[in-house]
Order: sequence, then C-alpha cells, then structure tokens
Amino acid sequence: MTDAVIAERRPAVLELEPGEYWWCRCGRSQSQPWCDGSHAGTGFEPQRFDVAEKKRFALCQCKHSEKMPLCD
Ligand code: FES
Repeated sequence: MTDAVIAERRPAVLELEPGEYWWCRCGRSQSQPWCDGSHAGTGFEPQRFDVAEKKRFALCQCKHSEKMPLCD
C-alpha cells in the first residue's frame, strides 16, 4: 500500500444532510472529500461516514488526521 496523498492542507467544511457518505481515504479522488473510485489498486478503501442529523462538519483532506474522517 502506498501513502495517502495530501489532497488539500485545509479541511472541507460542509453542511451535510442525514445519510451515508464515503470519505476518500487515499487522497486521489477528484471529488474531495468523497471517494470517486480513484483508490483502485492503491490498497486503500473509502471510509463510511454516517450523518444522523443535518450538521456542519470539517472533513479532513490531508488524509493524516487522527480523527478520520474529521479534521483534527
Ligand atoms: Fe480515495 Fe476512494 S478515491 S478512497
């Protein structure tokens, strides 16, 4: 497995509706912070992120947070 790519050095601050989301773990997605399938062949898998109520989140884009998928 290769290292995760740093997509951005700042979080993506988004207000999310309740639902199931798939956060990009590898950093290669062109649809940050979400998985677009670009992880194929890297050994990375996206991380599921469930949102129970509408809320604002700061999602990690450097891919090195200790609180993935949230920015730390
Ligand atoms: Fe990065 Fe899927 S594109 S985990």
